[in-house]
Amino acid sequence: MYKTHHNNELTIKNVNEEVELIGWVSKRRNFGALVFIDLRDREGITQLVFDESISEQIKNVRNEYILNVRGIVSERKTYNPKLLTGEIEVLVKAVTIVNEANTTPLIIADETDALEETRLKYRYLDLRRPVMLNKLRVRSKITNIIRSYLDEIGCIEVETPILTKSTPEGARDYLVPSRVHPGEFYALPQSPQLFKQLLMVSGFEKYYQIARCFRDEDLRADRQPDFTQVDIEFSFLSEQEIQTHIEKMLQRVMKSIHNIDISLPFLRLTYEEAMNRYGSDKPDIRFNLELQEITHLFKNSEFEAFASAESVKAIVVNGQANITRKQIDNLTLLAKKHGAKALTVLKMKDTLEGSIIKFLDDNTVNELIATLKVQMDDLVLIVADKWEKTCDVLGALRSYFGKELALYDKETFSFLWVVDFPLLEYSEDDGRYYAKHHPFTSPKKEHIALLEKDPRSVKANAYDLVLNGFELGGGSLRIYDQKLQSKMFEILGFTQDEIQDRFGFFVDALQYGTPPHGGIALGLDRVAMLLTHSESLRDVIAFPKNASAKDPMCDAPSLVDQKQLTDLNIEISKNGKM
Ligand code: AMO
Repeated sequence: MYKTHHNNELTIKNVNEEVELIGWVSKRRNFGALVFIDLRDREGITQLVFDESISEQIKNVRNEYILNVRGIVSERKTYNPKLLTGEIEVLVKAVTIVNEANTTPLIIADETDALEETRLKYRYLDLRRPVMLNKLRVRSKITNIIRSYLDEIGCIEVETPILTKSTPEGARDYLVPSRVHPGEFYALPQSPQLFKQLLMVSGFEKYYQIARCFRDEDLRADRQPDFTQVDIEFSFLSEQEIQTHIEKMLQRVMKSIHNIDISLPFLRLTYEEAMNRYGSDKPDIRFNLELQEITHLFKNSEFEAFASAESVKAIVVNGQANITRKQIDNLTLLAKKHGAKALTVLKMKDTLEGSIIKFLDDNTVNELIATLKVQMDDLVLIVADKWEKTCDVLGALRSYFGKELALYDKETFSFLWVVDFPLLEYSEDDGRYYAKHHPFTSPKKEHIALLEKDPRSVKANAYDLVLNGFELGGGSLRIYDQKLQSKMFEILGFTQDEIQDRFGFFVDALQYGTPPHGGIALGLDRVAMLLTHSESLRDVIAFPKNASAKDPMCDAPSLVDQKQLTDLNIEISKNGKM
């Protein structure tokens, strides 16, 4: 037996008991022949005391050695209120040095100044830091609550293939060459989308899976190449009923993890309203600073850039009129990064000041001040562009100020649904439509007739779940009519051959009695990131990739043996490129 208690367990009630403990040396302090050691395990820390009769045995013991001790619990002279075990210490009677440890390349403590690259290279040590271990514990707890909720409502957990065929979620696929079929490739799933729909065809009715997904896309703090979805699908439920299940599931998660009672139903905003008011389809509604509509003020203006723009909008940042030239340059840079041609900056001093004011007549300026309710020392930022661009740019500026001016409470969790997304989005560059979610999303019944005449105006039965400015999940009701599915593929520009080649099996399946169905997938990593107040998904994934999609610990991806390549019929060109 290694231990009678863990290291966060002993209190004043255990005084005089003989106990056995095991753990890592977290801290060592020498007072002459007397040695104090903080012994750490995953639960916490217990202070050990080695007197002169035994301290000689541990003279070489350093941080991160593993010790197994037997000793007597005794009350401390001065309590340490920071530790649950702070009332006691253990007077060691016998010690075994179970294992030694080299000096660690990063300090094992919550606070760290280690570079992220070092943390990832020695991830097993980084995870030894209590703060990291605890984040993964919270994640484990979240997963368990979700599993038990979905199990209770009758969902069947099904695993779907990892070696499969390309699924159209819009990112690049990770491909795996087949040895037995030279020149052919599996794709790793971007999501289990087609399989879960096929399970509905099979009559499973309620499905879930904690599913690993793989997407080769540009990485950000909230994106990893391999990540995890809570993937869910139901037959015979309405959009509202599906959303209610998810709300109740999250209500339970929030209660267990943070003891917060979130009220249901969640707020619902249409895509259009979210864009118009917050400049984002994943708005952070913990703070206001809403976008304001001013297109109409300039319709007859001589200021061409505003008069001719599809949409002119503004945000008014209270009390920020004194920002510096350099700050304005940075805001302009941010706006341009989001595709703005220009950013108009006005400051309210005695009058409204800014380079464009001279192009506007007094009446327009007065109307602008009145419409925007501009006050002394306010900063007014205006963007004029296509509707979506205007929203997007001002949304980015809104987020910037939200963070910069700390306009929200970090402890607040503001969930909402964004609903009624457009079915399609048009790419000017490619001259074609793409599915806004994926090609299996159903158009709203009343919009089906518009599919050919006016595809842009067709709305989908699609919904995103949003928390504090992050998209937690996305889902939709699906097309279950084979003819409509074919029409959708047509609109997306697939030829019959392409349809057959890529989704033939799926289109076939739709002919055998497909139930009305729909579902959603939540990004489990994102849920864990937000609920643990982490800055990045990397903090809640045990072994993540870095920003360039590498794992610095096991050095993946890496070169492989020539023999493996030969087996796979793969030849690498000299410069690594074809
Ligand atoms: P979608 O593509 O919106 O929908 O993905 C669902 C959720 O998965 C998370 N997510 C990611 N998390 C981390 N890293 C990534 N690279 C990443 N990409 C997506 C997000 C996102 O909201 N099959 C559909 C779901 C459905 O229609 O049922 C799908 O995958 O939190």
